[in-house]
Amino acid sequence: MKKAKTVYVCSECDYQSAKWMGRCPGCGSWNTFVEETYESESPAEKSSASRRQAMLARSAGEAEPQPLSSEALPDYLRRSTGIGEFDRVLGGGLVEGSVVLLSGEPGIGKSTLLLQICASLAADRKVLYVSGEESAAQISLRAKRLGIHGGGIYLLTETNVEKILSHAKKLGPDIIIVDSIQTMYHSESGTVPGSITQIRECAGVFINKAKSDGTSVILVGHVNKEGSIAGPKVLEHMVDTVLYFEGESRQNCRVIRAMKNRFGSTNELGVFEMTDAGLREVESPSELLLADRPEGVSGNCAVCVIEGTRPLVGELQALATPTVFPSPRRMSTGIDYNRVSLVLAVLEKRLGLRFSSSDVYINVIGGIKIDETASDAGMALAMISTIRDIPVPDDLICIGEIGLSGEVRAVSRIEQRIREGERLGFSKIAVPSRNLSKSKPQTKQETELIPIKTVFDLLKLLKSPKQ
Ligand code: TYD
Ligand code: MG
Repeated sequence: MKKAKTVYVCSECDYQSAKWMGRCPGCGSWNTFVEETYESESPAEKSSASRRQAMLARSAGEAEPQPLSSEALPDYLRRSTGIGEFDRVLGGGLVEGSVVLLSGEPGIGKSTLLLQICASLAADRKVLYVSGEESAAQISLRAKRLGIHGGGIYLLTETNVEKILSHAKKLGPDIIIVDSIQTMYHSESGTVPGSITQIRECAGVFINKAKSDGTSVILVGHVNKEGSIAGPKVLEHMVDTVLYFEGESRQNCRVIRAMKNRFGSTNELGVFEMTDAGLREVESPSELLLADRPEGVSGNCAVCVIEGTRPLVGELQALATPTVFPSPRRMSTGIDYNRVSLVLAVLEKRLGLRFSSSDVYINVIGGIKIDETASDAGMALAMISTIRDIPVPDDLICIGEIGLSGEVRAVSRIEQRIREGERLGFSKIAVPSRNLSKSKPQTKQETELIPIKTVFDLLKLLKSPKQ
């Protein structure tokens, strides 16, 4: 009879120990040990053996050193998925033989997106969609809802990776989609599906498959309650690309962001809108973000940030209310909390505005996250507007980074930002005066460029009472 054995495994670095420990001696992380029960041989031996096997499989044949400039080095073959926003985050399309990990909160739309990708890929390629979460009936119902007829898509509801692989061998698909890696199991691993060892082993199997015969693989990954990908950290090291699908599930805007990409930049965003007929690509996200923006209300200001290669105009909201707490509350949604504190401190010190007796809430409309400092000046203006209770003109957009001395610093790619603002109908564009010192950017005749040098200039931007 096989003896059950308990081992504690670090979810960060895979360190294994016979007893639980608060701090991992391997990587120094705290509270990362998870209990795993094995039915057979020692997991340490087994995992090191399987990793060795994987390494050997990857370097099939004897490798010889070769010059980097060599013509003989293989070039990556990249093919469009037919969904422009997804191609954009991948760096221009899905690379053959690459492994992509797509993760996100439950209900955000991962399965919906992948089914739509399947439909688009199946036009000229064979796709195997493996689901360990839903029945064939559920998937076909969703496909009907999305208007997908399914030619070229092969559906497999299976969780055993060995069986999946043998089906894949027979079918010979160009792309395998696995929804999700946490539901898969390897019969030789001995632990339950979803455990760290299982996830690592199963992912290893799919990665080997991709690297050995050029099949592209997309794995769906669950996230844990802290928002990071459930399972071992090594999973993110093993795959070529890690994508996060995020957004507020109550709102329609969805964003895909690359956390790691061996075949492209990690700056690009893919934006979608969830509709009754599935996910719709949003080529001009600014229009979606500015839809239904309140007009003539204090505390709101339009800002322009660059996400990857694309400028994005969004609305920042600030609200300051008298506090009832001994230490006032500061809350930020969609923007870095530290940046909010910094801008508040600069306004208090340089303009003498008193926020110390107010709770301050900052919100970015549309459920997106802004992490570019070019939104500082807009945030400061929204804060001044709320504390003074005077609205910012609706046709004004404010661009600039704020320094600790209250100076408004120059930002990159100013022309691109101005053009996006003009395209969306903004006629007043406040820009750092340092951006105008060398050359004046080209603008439409009706556009008013307002130079701002310090935070004092922001005060002049508020709507005058006559307006
Ligand atoms: P799903 O793709 O199952 O999310 P995940 O795989 O990330 O858990 O679907 C997410 C939600 O999207 C679901 O609650 C219903 C909604 N939805 C739509 O609004 N429109 C649609 O056309 C579809 C298919 C789903
Ligand atoms: Mg799903």
